[in-house]
Amino acid sequence: MSGIKTLGQFIIEKQADFPYAKGELSRLLRDIGIASKIVNREVNKAGLVDILGDADTINIQGEGQKKLDVYANEQFISALTSGGECCIVASEEEDDFVRIESPVSKNARYIVCIDPLDGSSNIDINVTVGTIFSIYRRKSTEGPATLDDVLQKGTEQVAAGYVIYGSSTMMVYTTGKGVNGFTLDPSIGEFCLSHPNMKIPEDGVIYSINEGNYVHFPEGVKKYIKYAQVEDKATNRPYTSRYIGAMAADIHRSLIKGGIYMYPTTSASPKGKLRLLYECNPMAFIIEQAGGIASDGLNRILDIEPTELHQRVAIFVGSPKMVKKAEEFMAEFS
Ligand code: AHG
Ligand code: MN
Ligand code: MN
Ligand code: MN
Repeated sequence: MSGIKTLGQFIIEKQADFPYAKGELSRLLRDIGIASKIVNREVNKAGLVDILGDADTINIQGEGQKKLDVYANEQFISALTSGGECCIVASEEEDDFVRIESPVSKNARYIVCIDPLDGSSNIDINVTVGTIFSIYRRKSTEGPATLDDVLQKGTEQVAAGYVIYGSSTMMVYTTGKGVNGFTLDPSIGEFCLSHPNMKIPEDGVIYSINEGNYVHFPEGVKKYIKYAQVEDKATNRPYTSRYIGAMAADIHRSLIKGGIYMYPTTSASPKGKLRLLYECNPMAFIIEQAGGIASDGLNRILDIEPTELHQRVAIFVGSPKMVKKAEEFMAEFS
C-alpha cells in the first residue's frame, strides 16, 4: 500500500485538527464518502438501468426532479441516518429540513446541508454531475435541533466538500485547514489522496456563466463580460468561455486551472438561482480555503445571514484577481 493514502486514512490522520470531540466529524465525512460511492455506482451505470430521466415530481425549488436527484437524496439521508452523527439534514430536494430520529442519533451534534445531485440536467447526456455538502455544529444545547440551528452563516461551517462524478470521480473537502482532493480508484473502491493542499491560481483566463441570460444580467455583469471579450495581450484577453452547467464541476475547473464562475441575479431569478445553504456556502468555503474569493458581487458569501432554508443568492467565485475585477464592475455599474 505504500504511496497510497485513502480518504479514511487521511481523515483519521487529520482528526487532531478538529476543534471538537474527535471522531464524530470523521465518521460524518466517512458516511458522506460511502453514500457518494453508492451514488457514483448508480451514475456510472445510469444508461444501463432505468434510472435516467424525469421522476415526474417537482421539488420545492420549482424544478422537475430527475430520478437520480431523488435516488441521491435518499442515499445521503440514509447514510447520515445510520451513521449517527447528524441530527438534521437540509436538502435541496426536501421541502423542509429532515430531523434524524434514529436511536443511534440521540446525541448527534451535526447539521448537514446538501445538494445531493448538482447539475442534474447533465444526467441524461452523460456529462459531469456532482454532490455538494456543508456541515455545521448545532448551536442549541437541549431538545431537538431547530431551524435556527440550520440557518447559520457560512463562516460557521466546520467542513464542506463536493464530489464530482466526471471522467473520474473525485471528492474535494475542507475542514478549514486547507483543501484536499481525492480520486476514486474503482479497482479498490477507495477515494485516494491525489490533490493534496489545493490552491487556486491567483488569476486565470476562463470565465464561466450561462451567457444565454445576457439580456437579463445586471449592467455590471454585462460590462464584465464585454471586458472579458476584449483583446488585450498584457492581460491574456480575450478570455476563454467554459460552462458545464454543474456548478461543482465549473468551480472545480476554476480551482485547478484558475477562472471565475458567475451566477448573477437575472430578471427570471431576481435573487439569483443558486442556493445559499446547499451550493454557495460550501463552494465559497472551499474556494476561500484554497486562496480564492466568493462574493454575491458586492459582499462575501460566507458573511450572509441566512433567513430561510432555500434562500437563493447571486455568486461570483474563483481566482481572486478575476473576482475582484468583476466586483469592480458590479460596484461601478450595478
Ligand atoms: P441542481 O442541478 O442542483 O438544481 O443545480 C443546478 C445549478 C448549478 O449546478 C448549475 O451551475 C446551474 O444550476 C445551471 O443553471 P442554468 O441551467 O440556469 O445555467
Ligand atoms: Mn435541482
Ligand atoms: Mn445544484
Ligand atoms: Mn441538485
